[in-house]
Amino acid sequence: MRKLSLKLGIIFFITLFCIETFMMFFLHTSLTNSRVEEELTSLQARGNSHRTILERNFDKETLAHIVLMESEEDTDVVITNISGTILASSNPHPEIKDYINQLENTVPYNGEILQRHWQNEKYIATISPIQKQQRTVGYVFMFQNTVSIHALMERLNKHFLIVGFVSGLVTIAVIIVLSRKLAHPLIQMKEATMKMSNGDFSVTLSSNGRDELSDLAIAIQHLSDELNHLRQDRKDFLSSIAHELRTPLTFIKGYADILYKRNLTEQDRQKYLGIIIEETNRLSHLIRELFELAKMDENSFIIEKECLQLNEFLENIRGKLSPAFQEKQLHFNVHCEEGLTLMADAARLEQILMNLLKNALSYCSSGDVISVIAKRQDDLVSILVKDTGKGIPKKDLPHIFERFYRVEKSRSRSLGGVGLGLSIVKELVQAHGGEITAQSKENKGTTFILTFKGVKKYENNTTH
Ligand SMILES: Nc1ncnc2c1ncn2[C@@H]1O[C@H](COP(=O)(O)OP(=O)(O)OP(=O)(O)O)[C@@H](O)[C@H]1O
Ligand SMILES: [Mg+2]
Repeated sequence: MRKLSLKLGIIFFITLFCIETFMMFFLHTSLTNSRVEEELTSLQARGNSHRTILERNFDKETLAHIVLMESEEDTDVVITNISGTILASSNPHPEIKDYINQLENTVPYNGEILQRHWQNEKYIATISPIQKQQRTVGYVFMFQNTVSIHALMERLNKHFLIVGFVSGLVTIAVIIVLSRKLAHPLIQMKEATMKMSNGDFSVTLSSNGRDELSDLAIAIQHLSDELNHLRQDRKDFLSSIAHELRTPLTFIKGYADILYKRNLTEQDRQKYLGIIIEETNRLSHLIRELFELAKMDENSFIIEKECLQLNEFLENIRGKLSPAFQEKQLHFNVHCEEGLTLMADAARLEQILMNLLKNALSYCSSGDVISVIAKRQDDLVSILVKDTGKGIPKKDLPHIFERFYRVEKSRSRSLGGVGLGLSIVKELVQAHGGEITAQSKENKGTTFILTFKGVKKYENNTTH
C-alpha cells in the first residue's frame, strides 16, 4: 500500500468503527434492558395493586371487576387460589399450572418476575401473592404480550441502523477530508524533496499553520532556498574565475604571438615581455588567492593561536611595507597601546593586515595618510586600518567582502586586483572568532575595523 492518505484513512476508519460499534452496542443493550425492566416493573406494580384490592375484598364481584379492568388493557390477569385453580382470568393462560409447580419457596410479598425472556416467549409474566392474616390464599398472575416490546425493539433497531449508517458516512467523509489534509502537505514535501534531489531547487511549499508539518515545510523551503543560493553562488564564482583567468591568458597569448611572429624593435619586445610578465604575475596572484579560498572552504587550514605582542608585531609589518609606502609618497603610522597582546595566528594575522594595507596602498594617492591603530576596549582588541584615500561609494560598501567584487573593475584591474583580498580577510578574521567591518566616505577615506575577543593585557612580560 503506497498511498499515505489511504493508510491513514483505513487506520482512522477501523479505530472509529470499533469505537462507534462498541458505543452503539452498549447504548442499545442498556436502552433495551431499561425498557424491558420498566415494562416488568409496571406489570408487577399492576399485579401488586390488584392484589391489594383483593386482600380487602376477596369476593366474586371484585374478581370480576379486576378482570373487566384488565380486559380493556393489553395486559392479562389470572387470579388463582393457592393450589392453582383459576378463579378468574381476562384471557386463558394454561401455563399457570407450570408456574405454580415451579414455585420453589414462598413467593415474596412484593411479588416476583416469572418470565423475563421477552425474546423467545410470547409473554412476560409476574406473580403477586394474595395474603390474608399472613397466609397466602391465592396469586395474581399478570401477563403482558411481548409483541409490543418486539415492535419497540424493531423501531429501536431501525433507528440505530439509520444512525449507524449516517454516522458511518459522516465518519468516512471526515476521515477522507482529514487524511487528505494530513497527507497532502507530506506528499507536497515528498515531491519537493524529489525535485531538489534532481537538482531543481525552485520549490514553493505553502506553510499555513503552526504545527510540526508547517515547521517541516518551512525547513524544507529554507533548505531549498539555501541550496538555490549556494548553486547560484557557485555558478557566479565559477564564471568569475573563468573570466578572471581568460583575461590575462588572452593578453599573454596575444603578446606571445606578436613576439613570435613579428620582427620587433628591442623597445617593443621589452614592452610586450613586460606585459606578459605582469599578466603572469596576475595569474599566479589569482591562483594563490583561489587556493587560499579553497583551503578555507574545505576548513583544511588550521589557526594556531599564540600570544602576540601587538606593538612588536605591527612594527615588523611597518618595516616590511614602509619602502612601498614611501615610494608612493604615502604617510604610514602605527599606534599601538603599550603592552597590548592578542591571541592569534601570527602568519594569518599578518596576511590579514597585509591585504588591508596593500589595498590602502593601491587605492590611495600621494600625500594620503594610512594609519594602523590597535587599542583595547573592555575585553576586546580592535585594530583599525585607516586611510585618507578615495573611499568606497555607499552603494558598493555592503558588497566589498564578496568574492570578485571590485568597485571600479577597470581601475582595480589595472592595479592588479582580482577582488578576492577582502573575502579572504573576512574568512580569516572569522576563523579567529573575530569580526570585520568597513566604514567609508567617498573622497574622505576608508576605515576597516577588526575586532577580536578573548584578550588579556600583557603586563610585566607575563603571558596570561
Ligand atoms: N582602502 C580602500 N580604499 C578604497 N577602496 C577599497 C579599499 N579597499 C578595498 N577597496 C575596494 O574594494 C574592492 C575589493 O577589495 P579586495 O581587496 O577584495 O579586491 P582587490 O584589491 O581588487 O583584489 P585582490 O585584493 O584580490 O588582489 C577593491 O576592488 C576596491 O575597489
Ligand atoms: Mg585587495
